Amino acid sequence: MLRYKVDAGIAWLTLDNPPLNALSHALRVGIVEAIDRAESDPRVHAIVLIGNERAFSSGADIKEFAGGEFYADPFLPRVVDAIEDAHKPVIAAICGACMGGGLEVALGCHYRVALADSKIAFPEVKLGLIPGAGGTQRFPRLVGLETALNLIVSGTTVPASLLKGTALFDVIAKDSLADAARDFARKLAERGYPVRRVRDLEVKHPQAEAFLQFARTSVATVARGMAAPLRALEAVAASLQPSFAKGIATEQKIFGELIAGTESQALRHAFFAERAASKVPGISEKTAQRKVAQVAVVGAGTMGSGIAMSFANVGIPVTLLEAKSEALDRGIAGIRKFYEGAAAKGKLKPEEASRRAGLITPSLEFAAAGKADLIIEAVFEDIEVKKSVFRELDRVARKGAIIATNTSTLDVDAIAAFTRRPGDVLGLHFFSPANVMRLLEVVNAKKTRPDVLATALSLARRIGKTAVVSGVCDGFIGNRMIGPYFQQSLLMLEEGASPRQIDAAIEAFGFAMGPFRMSDLAGNDISWHIRKRHYAEHPKMRPMRIADRVCELGRFGQKTGAGWYRYEPGKRDAIPDPVVDRIIDEERRALDLAPRKFSDAEIVDRLVYSLVNEGARILEEGIALRASDIDVVYLTGYGFPVTRGGPMFHASRMGLRTVLRRMREFAGNGHADPQFWKPARLITQLAAQGRTFDDAAASRSKPQSRPKAKTIARPKMKAGKKASRKEKRRG
Ligand SMILES: NC(=O)c1ccc[n+]([C@@H]2O[C@H](COP(=O)([O-])OP(=O)(O)OC[C@H]3O[C@@H](n4cnc5c(N)ncnc54)[C@H](O)[C@@H]3O)[C@@H](O)[C@H]2O)c1
Repeated sequence: MLRYKVDAGIAWLTLDNPPLNALSHALRVGIVEAIDRAESDPRVHAIVLIGNERAFSSGADIKEFAGGEFYADPFLPRVVDAIEDAHKPVIAAICGACMGGGLEVALGCHYRVALADSKIAFPEVKLGLIPGAGGTQRFPRLVGLETALNLIVSGTTVPASLLKGTALFDVIAKDSLADAARDFARKLAERGYPVRRVRDLEVKHPQAEAFLQFARTSVATVARGMAAPLRALEAVAASLQPSFAKGIATEQKIFGELIAGTESQALRHAFFAERAASKVPGISEKTAQRKVAQVAVVGAGTMGSGIAMSFANVGIPVTLLEAKSEALDRGIAGIRKFYEGAAAKGKLKPEEASRRAGLITPSLEFAAAGKADLIIEAVFEDIEVKKSVFRELDRVARKGAIIATNTSTLDVDAIAAFTRRPGDVLGLHFFSPANVMRLLEVVNAKKTRPDVLATALSLARRIGKTAVVSGVCDGFIGNRMIGPYFQQSLLMLEEGASPRQIDAAIEAFGFAMGPFRMSDLAGNDISWHIRKRHYAEHPKMRPMRIADRVCELGRFGQKTGAGWYRYEPGKRDAIPDPVVDRIIDEERRALDLAPRKFSDAEIVDRLVYSLVNEGARILEEGIALRASDIDVVYLTGYGFPVTRGGPMFHASRMGLRTVLRRMREFAGNGHADPQFWKPARLITQLAAQGRTFDDAAASRSKPQSRPKAKTIARPKMKAGKKASRKEKRRG
């Protein structure tokens, strides 16, 4: 963990906890013991603390948050104190990552020598925390109040060179860090090895109060409801008082409150959930992968164009195939416009923008896909169209090429069976806009080969996507869950809520957008198309007349200027529309329903628990490998509030018994779809055992297929006043 070597009067303390020198308990023990040893070693005049090439230290070992080791003696603040208290000068020699707790260790040192490209950051706010080992007090003493506040509140990473001119670094070296540290120690020798403790400095600012007041307003705006950035500001502000000890006490208090709070727990869960999602049983680093140097995308519509750009953005050449030349021209023009726009806004250099656009080659000939290592189909969502395209791809694709479908709802096993090589087929479900959205559902079909899956997972990383593996079912993880969520929104409309009340309630809970604004953005015709398929497949299903009538008027959302709301030309503000209110009124009357009042809490619970109940079924069926994968899908693809950690984490924190009681209550409302509200077996089991979704381990190694379409059951009893009265009694 820590190597100790003395050479020419210098004790070299090398942090050795690869890959990034996370400050685990063992490493913390190692540092303190080595400092004590160097202090009493008569050969030693100066001490150098140094890391490896990749990191001085990336900070706390956050795995230790869950167990007790994080607080185990020596707790990080005590390690920093031990370094600062040393009587022999301690020099931090920094290269690579020097972040969070790692930076706090460096601040405890008396001097700092760094390579110019070292990465300096306090990323704690991203986990809902603040630096808790003196960072909020020592950092402003060296870089000034404003710079410290900017970096601590934003969590941004900057190169050491950017902080040149502040007192943070005594030397910024270009190469050979060890030589620079040795030279610096020699200079200290000339001055009699003085120590200089950061805690003895003062933070000075000509107009501190005015600056803090301004900062409070701007931080509150960008923090979007998150507590940590404003609490970080409060801690940094405490560094202005002359007493270092009082400032540290403020920091400790805030840190303690945040680490115990839901927000930080949720953000830490999200962090680990994303890491866990890339681990798939049966797939390891040793699993063979196929080479992907050339991609073909079929269909130059909304999705195909975005998918093509995702590959061009990382330098992978793409052939973009279309059936019709007008569609191809339109797609290519859209791509050019996007890149030109990015260049005009200064987001890309013009030559880079045209290089990327140049990597996309249009074609009307299927044969052009013959050389591709990966072909992604993004044509109309119609099984017959998919069939003809896959038959053709099977004919032209080279042996060993991976063939993927971007279908949202169709059966990937059936699509794979259109080819003579189903082992090479899988689903790659991108989200719109595909070149922007981070989520990628990787659909592992019944016959998908492990090397195909492994290749898709590493390719996702290459193009900057967060991959979550799903089994085959209608809608996979994300869209299958959004079905009941949207269904509950529509049922609540019938019962008495309005689109704006529902949107406002769930947006206040933290969703980026409520169901009706989201549907207007995505296009109401998409869900209408799916509903019509479900009506055809399940003739007894009750049609959702309000939603259908909105679509029958051509109100497809923002793209047609009207949907659940109306939109002024060129604007995106959702304006409530009496036309929609009238449709809702008429349909309520047709259903013989007297409108009742909804509390925001009921709206939120009905929407969020509809996600949770379907999510639990998805887990039971092995469609998702773990509850946290479902959370990743909702956090990265559906705007679920990150401070609540995703639907399954949220339900676990509420307590599954509480969730269960609420579901039973909804089941008692004849109009809320009692069939749907029958709690998933998994929830009943876990609740009975006092467990949470966190404990529900993945039970299957390969997500299972469930090709049967998922539809919304018709309420058993006729929706009527009786149910409304019952709800009213409940208040
Ligand atoms: N739009 C979304 O938000 C979204 C999100 C995820 C997945 N999807 C899925 O992606 C697929 C494409 O959706 P979209 O929204 O891009 O549709 P779109 O209508 O915008 O584009 C489809 C394109 O496919 C082309 N096409 C049709 N038949 C073809 C053929 N035989 N050969 C070559 N090209 C052909 C059409 O000309 C059209 O340009 C669908 O399966 C859809 O379910 C859509």
